[in-house]
Amino acid sequence: MQVKTKADGHQAAESIAVRMLGWYDRHARILPWRVSPADRRQGVKPDPYRVWLSEVMLQQTTVAAVSGYFLDFLQRWPNVEALAAAPSEEVMGAWAGLGYYARARNLHACAKAVASEHGGVFPSTAEGLKRLPGIGDYTSAAIAAIAFDEPAAVVDGNIERVTSRLFAIETPLPQSRPLIRARVEAMTPRLRPGDFAQSMMDLGATICTPRRPACVICPVQPSCEAQGKGIAERLPAKAPKRAKPSRRGAAFVAVRRCDGAVFLRRRPALGMLGDMAEPPTSGWSAKADGATGADAAPFPAAWKEAGTVAHGFTHFDLTLEVWRAELDAAPKGTDGWWSPPERLLTEALPTLMRRAIETALVSKS
Ligand code: ADE
Repeated sequence: MQVKTKADGHQAAESIAVRMLGWYDRHARILPWRVSPADRRQGVKPDPYRVWLSEVMLQQTTVAAVSGYFLDFLQRWPNVEALAAAPSEEVMGAWAGLGYYARARNLHACAKAVASEHGGVFPSTAEGLKRLPGIGDYTSAAIAAIAFDEPAAVVDGNIERVTSRLFAIETPLPQSRPLIRARVEAMTPRLRPGDFAQSMMDLGATICTPRRPACVICPVQPSCEAQGKGIAERLPAKAPKRAKPSRRGAAFVAVRRCDGAVFLRRRPALGMLGDMAEPPTSGWSAKADGATGADAAPFPAAWKEAGTVAHGFTHFDLTLEVWRAELDAAPKGTDGWWSPPERLLTEALPTLMRRAIETALVSKS
């Protein structure tokens, strides 16, 4: 019988890191925020601003969705001081469509903190980074490893999947998180920890995919316990999800008769979609339905039903009835502004609200 010793475990972890780095040298994805392994060897250092910006954007959002936004942000605000000096509405407007809008507010708060309290220079350790707004365990470790070569354990969703499989961790998520973290800590090399983290992300995105992992071309297949047991595709196990509640509400799209401008207002800073623009909506939330029907409108008009839009938030699903009316002048007693068609494109409108407006505009009878 073979008995696994701690030394065996240590060797396995080390050989995984070596194989992963070799694979990364040959197959690293070319991404707009990434310094390639070849360039790193030539001494090119990653720009912490770019690393930070990309990691905040990539939280809960795919590489494909982020790339365009990342380049647009860099063009508008090439460094952290420029971003810190930007008006909040512009930052929220540039973020619109990426979702999870608290991230954009924290991003801006973080830029201001780095500019004003750190002389425009990002702290170079995970511990220092974590004191900044919007930077938690994952982001601080990712920036410290990628930008500053600190051997911090970086654990995102892809890395959780890869690691669960490498060590055949059958305990479901989220209970398995401490064990996964310990395994990642053991694998993370002192040299090139940032490239190692990125190699694990790339493997998870391209080979060790949630369904039908391509084990035959995997560089760490010989070390993969789940593959050996034939259970790779079943991992990571997940605790059964609780059903999400369904909430309802209504959106009221008022259109100015003379030029087709749409009446918008700003949502309160705190709470869902905080600080973003919207056509007036009834008071929907994660906890309670908002009012529905034309009577729920914030001001009287000849409201006509235009359809519905649905959106899945993390903790609930929301269906908004969409109502439309034509007006000649701004409604009395309601704060807001008219946004003409050409301005609508640059307003800080969340995707859900943009779709509500589209639904109202195409319904014109
Ligand atoms: N997902 C999150 N961060 C990433 C990175 N730096 N490279 C590739 N995918 C990522």
